[in-house]
Amino acid sequence: MKGVILAGGKGTRLYPLTKATNKILLPVYNKPMVYYPIETLVKAGVRDIIIVCAKEHAGNFINLLGSGKGLGAKIEYTVQEEPKGIAHALALAEDFVDGDGVMLNLGDNILFDDLSGYVRGFDDGAMVFLKRVRDGRNFGVPVFEGKRIVRIEEKPSNPKSSYAVTGLYIYDGSVFDKIRRMRPSKRGELEITDLNNMYIKEGRLNYGFLKGPWSDAGTFEGLFETARMVRERYTKSIRRSGH
Ligand code: G1P
Repeated sequence: MKGVILAGGKGTRLYPLTKATNKILLPVYNKPMVYYPIETLVKAGVRDIIIVCAKEHAGNFINLLGSGKGLGAKIEYTVQEEPKGIAHALALAEDFVDGDGVMLNLGDNILFDDLSGYVRGFDDGAMVFLKRVRDGRNFGVPVFEGKRIVRIEEKPSNPKSSYAVTGLYIYDGSVFDKIRRMRPSKRGELEITDLNNMYIKEGRLNYGFLKGPWSDAGTFEGLFETARMVRERYTKSIRRSGH
C-alpha cells in the first residue's frame, strides 16, 4: 500500500499564520505538523509516501523532509497547481500509486492509532475512520441505517449522527477511475465526501473507529487543541521513560 499526504490548499482558516508558509509546516508543540501524518503512515506499515503540495511550498517540504530517510519513510513530492479539492489532489498521485491500494491522510489530521491491522486486512473497496464528536457541523458526518452507513453528509447544519469522518482514508485501485467521473461541487472542488458516497452506492465502503485521540488542526482552535493533545502525550512518555 502507498501513502498520500495532502498539503495543498490555502489554509485560509489559519490566516495570517499561513500567509508565508503551508499549514502543515506550522508547529504542533515540538514538531512541524507534517511529521504526525508521516508517523501515522509509517506506524501503519506504509512507507512509500507522496506529499501533494502547493508549488510555493514544495521547496520547504523538501528542505524539511528530504528523502524521508530520517523518518523511516521514502518520500516523493508532487505539486497541486490550484486548490481544486481533496479528491483532485489525490488524483495527482495516480502514477505513484500505480494500481496499489492507497492510504490518504489529510495533512492537518493528527491521530495516534496503530492502523497496521487495517492496512494488512484491506482487500478492496474503501475504508473510513470515524470518531465521536460533540459537533459534527465542520466535518463529513455519516448517516446510519442500523450499522450501515447509507451516506455521508459534508458539513451538515443538522448532523444525523454524532460521528465525524476523519481525514484518513484507504482506497483500492478503482479510486482514480471514480475521481475521473466526478464533477466539481458548488464551491468548485472535487469533494472527498462525494468520492466516499460513490463507494457507498457500490456497497463497498467499510468503516472503523479511531480509539485514540484525534484532532483536525486546520483552525485556530483545532491547532491549539492539537498542540495541547500532543504535549500531553509527550510529557506522559517522558515521565514513563524517566527522563
Ligand atoms: C475535510 C473533509 C471532511 C472531513 C475533515 C476531517 O474537511 O471534507 O469530510 O471530516 O476534512 O478533518 P476540511 O477540514 O478540509 O474542511
